[in-house]
Amino acid sequence: MRKRNNWVVPKGVEYTEMDKKILSFQDKGFLVPSRNLIRTPEEIEGIRRSGIVNTGVLDLVAQEIHAGMTTLEIDKLVYDYTIAHGATPATLGYEGFPKSCCTSINEVVCHGIPNEFEVLQEGDIINVDCTTILDGYYADASRMFVIGKTTPKKQKLVDVAKECLEIGMEAAKPFSFVGDIGNAIQKHAHKNGFSVVRDLCGHGVGLKFHEEPDVVHYGKKRTGMLLVPGMVFTIEPMINMGTWEVFIDEEDGWTVITEDELPSAQWEHTFVMTEHGLDILTY
Ligand code: MF3
Ligand code: CO
Ligand code: CO
Repeated sequence: MRKRNNWVVPKGVEYTEMDKKILSFQDKGFLVPSRNLIRTPEEIEGIRRSGIVNTGVLDLVAQEIHAGMTTLEIDKLVYDYTIAHGATPATLGYEGFPKSCCTSINEVVCHGIPNEFEVLQEGDIINVDCTTILDGYYADASRMFVIGKTTPKKQKLVDVAKECLEIGMEAAKPFSFVGDIGNAIQKHAHKNGFSVVRDLCGHGVGLKFHEEPDVVHYGKKRTGMLLVPGMVFTIEPMINMGTWEVFIDEEDGWTVITEDELPSAQWEHTFVMTEHGLDILTY
């Protein structure tokens, strides 16, 4: 195991019980967070307020989404609601991304770009992923929507992907590891005959869009970064009906699609680790 001395207590500062605990993991060679990943109570409340706007956006999408609607219309709802609440959509202009949310239908895994030509059809499953910046704080969440009625297999994929998020959340105890989350998710997906995307992961979030750690959705227990109270991060498993492999659309450089073009589903929340376990900031 690679040893990184991330946790540094400033000179002259007395070690807290938490410092001692984290340092004991670090001394054993585990990857621990650096102190700048620990959010203050004020920061957590800021992210929570941003999360309230983000949840409002997704609730609005849930109310309005229907067959015959274009993904551009979804984007407009997201933009207008976010701006009306004094916030900004984080994806707009993020590394050149042109829209206010990601809309990913059926075989699109994530990062689908809303556009005027894509019309929602009965039986489609779509992920809408929104990230809000309010007063400099970022909150990131996504949900699946089923347009009308879909096939039993696609419905099961949507349901199992949601269970994967819940199971991953349960596995994330204070002083557990990112790998404990991934391991629990992978087991549940495989048990149901589905696969887990490996090329994209959850992430620290709050003061920036993407921070440490990488929250992978597969892997071994007690690997990856130690999860310490005060850390804020997403869990956002992408679960595929067929192969876990994906490719990026060459034309737009963003849209992530399953290699076998079978459907994919994803749910995402932003969480803060507390002394008792995860608290959802995007409810
Ligand atoms: N919201 C996505 C995530 O969960 C990231 C979208 S980045 C974009 O991390 F540029 F594609 F919008
Ligand atoms: Co995210
Ligand atoms: Co997201």
